[in-house]
Amino acid sequence: MKNQEDLKKASAKAALDYIKMGQVIGLGSGSTVNHFITALASIKSKIEGVVAASVNTEKYLKQHGIPILNLNTAGELALYIDGADEVNPQLQLIKGGGGALTREKIIAAASKHFICIADESKYVGLLGQGALPIEVIPMGRSYVAREIVKLGGFPAYRDNFLTDNGNIILDTQNWDFTDPIRLERLLNNIPGVVCNGLFAQRPADTLLLATDSGVKTTER
Ligand code: 5RP
Repeated sequence: MKNQEDLKKASAKAALDYIKMGQVIGLGSGSTVNHFITALASIKSKIEGVVAASVNTEKYLKQHGIPILNLNTAGELALYIDGADEVNPQLQLIKGGGGALTREKIIAAASKHFICIADESKYVGLLGQGALPIEVIPMGRSYVAREIVKLGGFPAYRDNFLTDNGNIILDTQNWDFTDPIRLERLLNNIPGVVCNGLFAQRPADTLLLATDSGVKTTER
């Protein structure tokens, strides 16, 4: 049995095959993405640069001498690569365990091709096995939490955590995930919500799922 870090490394390495000469790529955040950056460093001259979804990803890219670009000047990106907390058979995701969900969602939306890299523990039949993170403007915290309760959700304030955008996170549970697109829109409609961690309207296009028997590729 391979351990989880080895599986994360294997899925990250498999994503290298999708990179073409001269591309600008988008990158999410988290330990699987960090494994990807380590692998990317060996072919960094092939790409123009990376648009990063978090300060942590930017730091790691800098350590590896990989150029960082700005989304506002980069235009549409050819490729976005990111991990996930959960992925279902439709390649819809829950993200935001690391709190970078808003920038991740923007870059995913601005990219032609979204590759999700994950170890097999992230694969679920139905989303919602763990918490669904929601990024909230700090002054709206109590109001948004009450609205979530009215909708049947259980919100928990993420202690001692601010996002790169200066906002708080409510980790929520008890949702009906049978229609993830509807739930994503419903939560976005609460004033004070910046973004929620459901990636259903813009799911991944390709999943590279590392298992003990190798990396399995699923296309949407
Ligand atoms: C950060 C994320 C990450 O992609 C997610 O938490 C998975 O992280 P890891 O690769 O460390 O398991 O959504 O906001």
